[in-house]
Amino acid sequence: MDKKTWQWQRTIASQTYLISTARDLLPHKFVQEAFATDAMYWAEPLSDEATRAMLDNSLTLGIYTSDNTPIGMARMVTDYTTLAYLTDVYLHDSHRNLGLGKWIIACCREIVLEMNDLRFLVLLTGSEQAQKLYTRELGMSSLDGRQQPLTCMGARRGKIAEAAASTPRAEDGPTRATGEER
Ligand SMILES: CC(C)(COP(=O)(O)OP(=O)(O)OC[C@H]1O[C@@H](n2cnc3c(N)ncnc32)[C@H](O)[C@@H]1OP(=O)(O)O)[C@@H](O)C(=O)NCCC(=O)NCCS
Repeated sequence: MDKKTWQWQRTIASQTYLISTARDLLPHKFVQEAFATDAMYWAEPLSDEATRAMLDNSLTLGIYTSDNTPIGMARMVTDYTTLAYLTDVYLHDSHRNLGLGKWIIACCREIVLEMNDLRFLVLLTGSEQAQKLYTRELGMSSLDGRQQPLTCMGARRGKIAEAAASTPRAEDGPTRATGEER
């Protein structure tokens, strides 16, 4: 399926910036270098192959200066219909505090608002400052069972592996007979 490309332009402090979801504009090297920074403390540097797979399967907004130099990104993992997971919001430190962070989040907001059947836009954060930002810009609240009768659940790879070690494997077949197998 051919994916739509979104694009926005804005001039701030006499510098014109572009935000685009065009995949061929965003060098993999920029993403790899960003993942290696302390600012993206939640990310690990990825191999070329893993980077390509990740970007091929994500909707990534890149932010560029007027000569197409990438200076930031935000990534959504989405089915373009019911669910979007926002992650990897990052701006190079030489372009911070100009409003570009709020702008890229507003662009993500425009994209998900085009999804009429969207159930949830979700993200994970450990930062209180980020919670305030996402509450204000995206109307988000913590899914901790307090404000809504919903709990957001998650597991890192290690925990999934632990669960796998103590439960039947997928290839072991059904643990219960279905009606048809009577
Ligand atoms: C978060 C980030 C993208 C903000 O970009 P920015 O262009 O500097 O931010 P803006 O100028 O658009 O807006 C600043 C707002 O973001 C908030 N902010 C700044 N740094 C932030 C951070 N690390 N986490 C969350 N919010 C942050 C500020 O409090 C400010 O809020 P205000 O409008 O009430 O003053 C940028 O600081 C960054 O890349 N940080 C490192 C990566 C990171 O922490 N990403 C995830 C955080 S959501």
